[in-house]
Amino acid sequence: MLAVSDNPAATPVVAVSASGFAAWRERQTELARAWLDRGAFKGKQGQFQWLPGASGAPERLVAGAGDGLGLATFGELSRRLPAGDYRLDAAPDSTPLQRRLALLGWGLGGYRYERYKQSERAPARLLIEPADAPALAECEAVAWCRDLINAPTNDMLPRHLEAVARELAAAHGGDIELTVGDALLERGLNAIHAVGRASADAPRLIDLRWGDATAPKVTVVGKGVCFDSGGLNLKTAVGMRLMKKDMGGAAHALALARLVMASRLPVRLRMLTPAVENAVSANALRPGDVLRACDGTTIEIENTDAEGRLILADALALAAQDAPDLTIDFATLTGAARVALGTELPAMFATDDAVAAGIAAAGAAVEDPVWRLPLHAPYRRLLDSEVADIANAPAAPYGGAIAAALFLQRFAGAGPWVHFDVMAWNQRSRPAHPQGGEAMGLRSVYRYLAQRFATTA
Ligand code: BES
Ligand code: ZN
Ligand code: ZN
Repeated sequence: MLAVSDNPAATPVVAVSASGFAAWRERQTELARAWLDRGAFKGKQGQFQWLPGASGAPERLVAGAGDGLGLATFGELSRRLPAGDYRLDAAPDSTPLQRRLALLGWGLGGYRYERYKQSERAPARLLIEPADAPALAECEAVAWCRDLINAPTNDMLPRHLEAVARELAAAHGGDIELTVGDALLERGLNAIHAVGRASADAPRLIDLRWGDATAPKVTVVGKGVCFDSGGLNLKTAVGMRLMKKDMGGAAHALALARLVMASRLPVRLRMLTPAVENAVSANALRPGDVLRACDGTTIEIENTDAEGRLILADALALAAQDAPDLTIDFATLTGAARVALGTELPAMFATDDAVAAGIAAAGAAVEDPVWRLPLHAPYRRLLDSEVADIANAPAAPYGGAIAAALFLQRFAGAGPWVHFDVMAWNQRSRPAHPQGGEAMGLRSVYRYLAQRFATTA
């Protein structure tokens, strides 16, 4: 946990790398060296040790920075140290960005989902200076994104996502427009309706607008499938177990909108989030059905479990109508992206090389990596349909993440477009990344937008 606050009694923490350890040790008091020599501390990532003050009592802490200070350095301290206040004392041989990432890592590592069960003890608090407040804002946005993903579907249905978006819009003076249930059909948003109509909670499109209408237009779209049962192409028990997280893309879009609005980035922001439950009922979408998306494209349903791309087709086509300067979508779209890159590395697809390079570089800088995969045009034939303009899924289980991205591209318009296929979930805990819902690619995109559009900083 991070807090912009001051407490003279806060425990100072110094970060020492493995290569800097020997020289740093030499600068310590004889007493401190004696303590160090009784311990195993060598500056490795994950190590930490208490050190004595003049009185001989443990008064300060040294933490291992391994190869260099970063997100992981303090990524477990918040939960391993006694509750109380700490402050970063010194971080020799580090850049301001590394320092900022270390502060953020403390906060991100202290996160727990506590809506239904409190942790046994409070996390240790790292006190930061007002100049480091952006780290706190990012930490809070990531925690919020995680909270939304971790929320069980019974408390995170389309109507709950709507409430969350309404609160966000109200907090920042954004305008919000909702299209719910059969009203979707009147606007031609047939795909969103078709995917969500079998649920007891009506499908809807959340449309949030914020910022100066003359500023560059940035549109963010998020897949908001509150639960993905697979529909009539029902998932297996194992495949369904985690599907409360299938609104992870929407959580990313909301968190990105929050960061953009809170920092008052000079852009015209639009956030479009289709929110549905992919449920089973007598009126559920069937394999073989043909839909007409809002741009007129006809889609044959090959598999009702390829539902995310259907709701995104309508949302992206709608987004394209006002020709944004940049469109970005986040979606827990395919298992295939996870087969290709594993669970920790989100796949990025982009129509513009400079945008892709900019986001990848920003992601590397802030330890929020993304990996570009190709929009390989010849694979469009994987989505050929005998009866409609396009099929929603390939028949064979190859190139699934690319096929899904190519499907979306058809609706995304001609302007620069970036698509993220994310896991939005940590399978197990690692430093700064506790098990459960996770923001992936969020901080990289935010940094890219801030660098590209901010007038100051
Ligand atoms: N929500 C899933 C994708 C998913 C599954 C993401 C597991 C992360 C982990 C999506 O709606 C889906 O079911 N996709 C299918 C597509 C297939 C039917 C073409 C998939 O990936 O198997
Ligand atoms: Zn699915
Ligand atoms: Zn899904």
